[in-house]
Amino acid sequence: MATVRIENLGIEYEGETGWNLLECDLLREVDHPHDCGGNCACSTCKVAVILGGENLSPQGEDERDTLDAYGWDPDAFRLACQCVIQGGGEIVIRLPDPE
Ligand code: FES
Repeated sequence: MATVRIENLGIEYEGETGWNLLECDLLREVDHPHDCGGNCACSTCKVAVILGGENLSPQGEDERDTLDAYGWDPDAFRLACQCVIQGGGEIVIRLPDPE
């Protein structure tokens, strides 16, 4: 389990190891966009990771390609559906403002 804090929504919870951030958010009924259903194909689930990126699975080429295709800097954003919680600690993220 990791402590997940969504900084700009004032939400904090204990996220399950082995689950991705989108799954964890949806389980807790966080209003987190996910147009492609968590398939690394839309970029609407993007988040900025403020702290604790080392507690998440590494960013893959597919994730980088999807972010880039939609005009988001892969070095500044992650796709929540591709960020699997890998251990304990704290993870702080920020959801972009709605477009
Ligand atoms: S939900 Fe579409 S890329 Fe994550």
